[in-house]
Amino acid sequence: MKILALESSCDDTAAAVVVDGRRVLSSMVVSQTEVHARFGGVLPEIAARHHLEAINAVVEQALQEANLTPGDLDAVAATLGPGLVGSLLVGASTAKTLAWLWNKPFIGVEHLRGHVCSNFLERELEPPFLCLMVSGGHTQLMAVRSYTDIETVGRTLDDAVGEAFDKVARLLGLPYPGGPNLDLLAQQGNPARFILPRARTQRPWDFSFSGLKTAVSRLYEREAALLNPEDSAFITQRDQLRADIAASFQKTVVDTLMRKTLRCAEALGFDTISIAGGVSANSGLRARLADLPEGIQLVVPQLRFCMDNAAMIASAAYFCPLADGVESDVFSRRA
Ligand code: KG4
Ligand code: ZN
Repeated sequence: MKILALESSCDDTAAAVVVDGRRVLSSMVVSQTEVHARFGGVLPEIAARHHLEAINAVVEQALQEANLTPGDLDAVAATLGPGLVGSLLVGASTAKTLAWLWNKPFIGVEHLRGHVCSNFLERELEPPFLCLMVSGGHTQLMAVRSYTDIETVGRTLDDAVGEAFDKVARLLGLPYPGGPNLDLLAQQGNPARFILPRARTQRPWDFSFSGLKTAVSRLYEREAALLNPEDSAFITQRDQLRADIAASFQKTVVDTLMRKTLRCAEALGFDTISIAGGVSANSGLRARLADLPEGIQLVVPQLRFCMDNAAMIASAAYFCPLADGVESDVFSRRA
């Protein structure tokens, strides 16, 4: 089954063609990172307008790269949520229009299930497994018991991990996008210099990162005030302070993620752990994941499938479409 999928829930315009949920024939992504960089974050109205400009070309490229014509497709899919509503509308309306035009069924997909399915792309992995989903908008532990039985067993009570990375990066004066820049800086710092608080949550597999973010802010203020701008070593000391704070923050986050994920896997009887979402690109997290206890197997999707992309949406359209997301008549649509 060849599915063309569109993804436009945040600031990436993406289209892909995937066969039977696993074999990626094409996966095109047009990133808006540079557009939003000067604002220090994603501006929803501008994101939606850029999706509009990019979407037709991205669809055309995905078909060309896959060497297919619309007649070869079995269905057209798109992310229906969660995400920025103006952005979602562009991908969903385009996909529904194409489905109607080409006389194909339309398949609606939930974005988070898409991230889970990034684990199926170009590999043979099958459920059950526990998926640690870490992105800019979400932080969840998802028990994937079968292709369709996917339960969120833990979630963040406040900031998502990527969001915490982005906010701490901004606080340290790093350019947007904060997460990857903080990761680079952390590699030059001493993670043991500062001990930061680890939040306790009532439910064992929930997460909370907003207190950590506040603690980092206070720590930076306090330590920076101790430096003397008249000192000839001021710049070096300030840069080292930033790097050490970045490294200490990253270590705390990675420790928390790993501890909770491993405990959850043990309690629920999973021996395979997978990760998904943009933060799975983090070098600290990847290093720790390479060193798992015996008996636990790790699956990490290719980096390009960890970030927002449409191949994962095509895979979810095949394996786990929204219960009421399949429409053979797009005019009978719900809101
Ligand atoms: O999954 P994603 O591409 O988009 C959604 O949020 O759905 O994730 C983007 C998030 C951003 O917050 C970004 O800062 C973070 O992932 N991120 C990272 C790294 N690369 C991307 N965070 C920490 N370290 C990284 N290397
Ligand atoms: Zn995402």
